[in-house]
Parts: sequence; structure tokens; C-alpha cells
Amino acid sequence: MSDVVDNPFFARLWTAMSSREPESLRRLRRDNLAGLTGRVLEVGAGTGTNFEFYPSTVTEVVAVEPERRLAVLAEQAAAGAAVPVTVSTDTVEQFADAKPFDAVVCSLVLCSVDDPEQVVSQLFSVLKPGGELRYLEHVASDGAARGRLQRFADATFWPRLLGNCHTHRRTEDTITRAGFRVDDARREWTFPAWVPVPVAEFAIGVARRP
Ligand SMILES: C[S@@+](CC[C@H](N)C(=O)[O-])C[C@H]1O[C@@H](n2cnc3c(N)ncnc32)[C@H](O)[C@@H]1O
Repeated sequence: MSDVVDNPFFARLWTAMSSREPESLRRLRRDNLAGLTGRVLEVGAGTGTNFEFYPSTVTEVVAVEPERRLAVLAEQAAAGAAVPVTVSTDTVEQFADAKPFDAVVCSLVLCSVDDPEQVVSQLFSVLKPGGELRYLEHVASDGAARGRLQRFADATFWPRLLGNCHTHRRTEDTITRAGFRVDDARREWTFPAWVPVPVAEFAIGVARRP
């Protein structure tokens, strides 16, 4: 379980990357948050890239971001957001709140936590019955060649350079195993399928706590 997230190199890299995202990824972020209402927990908010996409029907966002260099930038993004956002520097594993949430948002974060099964079960428990998990995550590819590339990346340099990111996680299975009912799900490619990068295929969906 993570108590501390301290990644100076990744924080610099992610700050640069998240300020220049392609329109294809921004569209997926917008889709992932469309129609949300009420009180939302956002897990691992990074620089706060999602904040501008929350619809006005969201009454409050509680965002956890334990990497303090990124949390400072998330605070700045929160100040300019159209909906109220507070930023906590807890890890998701440390985070506790007495009030249940209407929705939880995970984008590009279940790849980076140490124990996704435990975290997704925790997210299930902080939701109201009927509450939604909105997820936008790169996932393990079904293709044999890309699967091999992902396993190689995960066993070597990728998690070390990219803040514990793992490319070959079967996140959709983790979500259903935690007890969520998937209402809507699809996969999208952010690069053409032939480009040999391990994080090209994204899962986006709505999963509900029954
Ligand atoms: C690739 S970034 C994605 C940031 C953001 N979710 C987005 O969509 O731009 C992964 C983020 O997860 C955060 N993170 C890693 N481990 C975490 C944990 N245990 N609890 C909460 N956040 C965590 C990192 O600090 C980082 O900001």
C-alpha cells in the first residue's frame, strides 16, 4: 500500500505532457465526465487536467493527488475551475471521508497504484448504492504482439520512468471483480493500431455500484 508518492522526474514529465494533450485525449476526458452529478471523488488528479471538463451539475469535487509537485498544480487548476474542487495530498489508500460519494472518477491512475484490486474495492465502498465509477484507463491489449511489448515494458523501464505506470493491466476485469455492474464501456485507440507504443488502447466506461 502506498503511503507516499514522491516522483520528481515523473512530476516534471507529466506536467509537460498534460499541458500538451492531443484533442483525441481531451475528447475522451470530456466524454468520461459528461452527465456527472453531485459529489465526486477524483483519484490521482495529476495537474488537474480533468477539472475544466466537469459539468455544472457536479456540486463538489474532492480530488486526491499525493505527488506534492503535481498537487500544487492541481490546486491552481482547482482555483480556475467552474465547479468547487478541493485537493487533498492523501494517497487514495489513505483517503477517508465520512460522506459517501455520488461518483468516483479514475483517469490514467489505476495503472499506477500498487494494488488495483484493493483500490477498486475501496472505491466501491465509498460510493452510494447506485453511484458511478467513471473510468478512462489504458489497458492490457488483446493483441499478442502488443501484449508482449506491454509485459516487457512493465518488467523493465516503464514503471520506473513513469511513476509506477503499468501498461498490461486488465482493469475492466478488476472493476467487475470488485462488484461493479458495467453500464457502458468501449475501447478507443489514441494512436493508430500499428504504432508500437504500449499505451495506445484505452478503456472508457461507466460502472455502477448496484
Ligand atoms: C498518469 S497520472 C494521471 C493524472 C490524472 N488522473 C489525469 O488523468 O491526468 C497518474 C497520477 O496518479 C497519481 N497516483 C499514483 N499513485 C497514487 C495513489 N496511491 N493514490 C492517489 N494517486 C496516485 C500520481 O501521483 C499521478 O498524478
